[in-house]
Amino acid sequence: MEIKGTTKITGVFGYPVSHSLSPIFQNSAFEHLGLDYVYIPLEVKPEDLKTAINSIKIFNWVGVNVTIPHKRQVIKYLDEIDGVSEILDVVNTIHNIKGKLKGYTTDGDGFIRSLKQDGNFNPKGKNIFILGAGGSSYAICGALINEKVNSIFITNRTLENAIKLKKHLTEKLKFKNIEIIEFERRNDKKIWQNIDILINTTSVGMKENDPLLIEKINIEKVKFVYDIVYNRKTELLKSAEELKIPNLDGISMLVYQGAISFEIWTGKKAPVDIMKRAIYEKIKK
Ligand SMILES: NC(=O)c1ccc[n+]([C@@H]2O[C@H](COP(=O)([O-])OP(=O)(O)OC[C@H]3O[C@@H](n4cnc5c(N)ncnc54)[C@H](OP(=O)(O)O)[C@@H]3O)[C@@H](O)[C@H]2O)c1
Repeated sequence: MEIKGTTKITGVFGYPVSHSLSPIFQNSAFEHLGLDYVYIPLEVKPEDLKTAINSIKIFNWVGVNVTIPHKRQVIKYLDEIDGVSEILDVVNTIHNIKGKLKGYTTDGDGFIRSLKQDGNFNPKGKNIFILGAGGSSYAICGALINEKVNSIFITNRTLENAIKLKKHLTEKLKFKNIEIIEFERRNDKKIWQNIDILINTTSVGMKENDPLLIEKINIEKVKFVYDIVYNRKTELLKSAEELKIPNLDGISMLVYQGAISFEIWTGKKAPVDIMKRAIYEKIKK
């Protein structure tokens, strides 16, 4: 990749950001299509966010991704946000359109594209069990509701956060078929009789000794398991494989959410297979 005076700059602002896998697949996509773009990870502390966002205009960057912990805080520094970001109160992609910064969130649509294209699973009319009520759960629940799922069961370690998520989905998306399952009751056999897909949106699984939150006897009943954790094969995914249940890990979602950002910035269709290959090759090393 040759950096020239004409090179268009994109990147990611996060804190920390050193673990980010996005530069690997975004830069290989630019290179593959012969686009004069580059993607740079930049560590931005929360107290510097305003200045960093302003620098997108000053340096005429094409846009950036924003990741933990900036996804909510960044909104107040933008000129405009799209409808989904407004509903979910979260932004992960910024596009500099002639000096005006517009925010989008691509996590939810990235999840759905991944589920349909890599998982060959259409969530329409299905019953969903979601572990977690953090930022990614908001995006995924919102996108699933847009896809017209039948029902959503939510369980979360901190009950109040699950209640907040339910309130948000009920009020903003007018979706009524949501049930909160207390964390201690998550393995009740009755709940699992009609669940089609189990989705882990918690960070449980990122570390080697993390527990399996759902018992195998329940996992066995579902038709699909999706774990959005992407840094390792989680116990949940190992169990799904053992039980021969179709499953996906978080790399697929990571690539598709990045592919949507790529398309926003370049106006070109993202070479998803190239992006996936780049990331899997990196992980294998
Ligand atoms: N594949 C992708 O593209 C993608 C995109 C975004 C995020 N992710 C991954 O998704 C995970 C969550 O990210 P996020 O942004 O949603 O984080 P977040 O907003 O901080 O939410 C974290 C969630 O995990 C729960 N949790 C944390 N530790 C727990 C534990 N020990 N036991 C049970 N629940 C626990 C939290 O519950 P409480 O409410 O009780 O704290 C909360 O529901 C991370 O692993 C992240 O890397 C993947």
